Amino acid sequence: MTVDKQEVNTWSVARAHTNIALIKYWGKRDEKLFLPTSPSLSLTLDSLYTDTRVRFDPKLSSDELWLAGEKQDDKSTVKITRVIDLFRARYSVPEQTPRMRVESVNHVPTAAGLASSSSGFAALAWALRDAFESAFPQTVAMDDRELSTFARRGSGSATRSIFGGFVEWSYGTGSNDSCAIPVDDARWDVAMVLAAISTQHKKISSTYGMKHTAETSSFYSLWREASEQDLATVREGIRERDIDKIGAAMEANCMKFHATMFAANPPFTYLTSRSWRVIEFVHEMRDSGLSVYFTMDAGPNVKILCRASEQQFVHDKLAERFPEITLFDALPGSGPETLSKDKWAQ
Ligand code: ADP
Ligand code: DP6
Ligand code: CO
Repeated sequence: MTVDKQEVNTWSVARAHTNIALIKYWGKRDEKLFLPTSPSLSLTLDSLYTDTRVRFDPKLSSDELWLAGEKQDDKSTVKITRVIDLFRARYSVPEQTPRMRVESVNHVPTAAGLASSSSGFAALAWALRDAFESAFPQTVAMDDRELSTFARRGSGSATRSIFGGFVEWSYGTGSNDSCAIPVDDARWDVAMVLAAISTQHKKISSTYGMKHTAETSSFYSLWREASEQDLATVREGIRERDIDKIGAAMEANCMKFHATMFAANPPFTYLTSRSWRVIEFVHEMRDSGLSVYFTMDAGPNVKILCRASEQQFVHDKLAERFPEITLFDALPGSGPETLSKDKWAQ
């Protein structure tokens, strides 16, 4: 079986949205398989996303990744090849099948702690499924849960971007069932405002940060236990549509998550004095009666969960207090979608 001419010339195009974890993933129990040390739960966002297109290219001797028009180095390319190889195996692709050209544009800062790897690898997985299914239609179809296990092998957080709204990434018994599970579409009074304190590339990657923490932090096992509890509370809050319950547990989980890094050896932190100033302001806004809660990931940026009905007000307050900080407003987003070829980079 070979890929016919038409498939060679055809791009498969996908869009996937980023997600922000309310309950964090921070550590792998199996590094090769990207199996997490604990389950996590996130909200997919509508306004921050990645567009990716892929095609089989007979001119290439190895896969290529182009990000915002620039050819990427081996370090990033190796990560996409790892994922493409999984698709090659899943679809029993013959040896002589051409390598793939992957072009991508992030509508979110890259490697800055704003979750570009989540939308990046979810968009890649979605586009690859389309490409392989049309080239090898005789293979058993892949459903979205299975697809999430493929996105996972590019970047753990990408597992959750295969669905919209609130999504859980289950611990799983192994590689096949450590997948994303949609929990709630979040089409109620939920929103986020992201305070992008810095969009510089992080100095310590998430991959390295979590490995170092899991291996050396004296708080690590406590974190895992507490995280399970926080997850149960957030699940309950979602069922009850109680933003204050969700927010309080999310904030508590975030503080414990950052504490694991303070207790690593050597210790480190992603937070800066500006992060703390925004956190203090979130407390101030909450004292004034707003339902606002913060979380932060592997970077200094602060993500604020609030009611959609109060989002504009929260945005304006933040803009007034921190005119130098870029703010991104987001509502709950949907899962990835296949785009038509003419939608590319519009
Ligand atoms: P972030 O906080 O943005 O998720 P990470 O360190 O987790 O930062 O991931 C950044 C890495 O993810 C990049 O260095 C690159 O290897 C990969 N990545 C980001 N965007 C894409 C994309 N659109 N396509 C493929 N890989 C991507
Ligand atoms: C702090 O998914 O970026 O954002 O799996 O090594 O690619 P790799 O890491 P990544 O880690 C995300 C960590 C986090 C928390 C979260 O998103 O759950
Ligand atoms: Co990431």
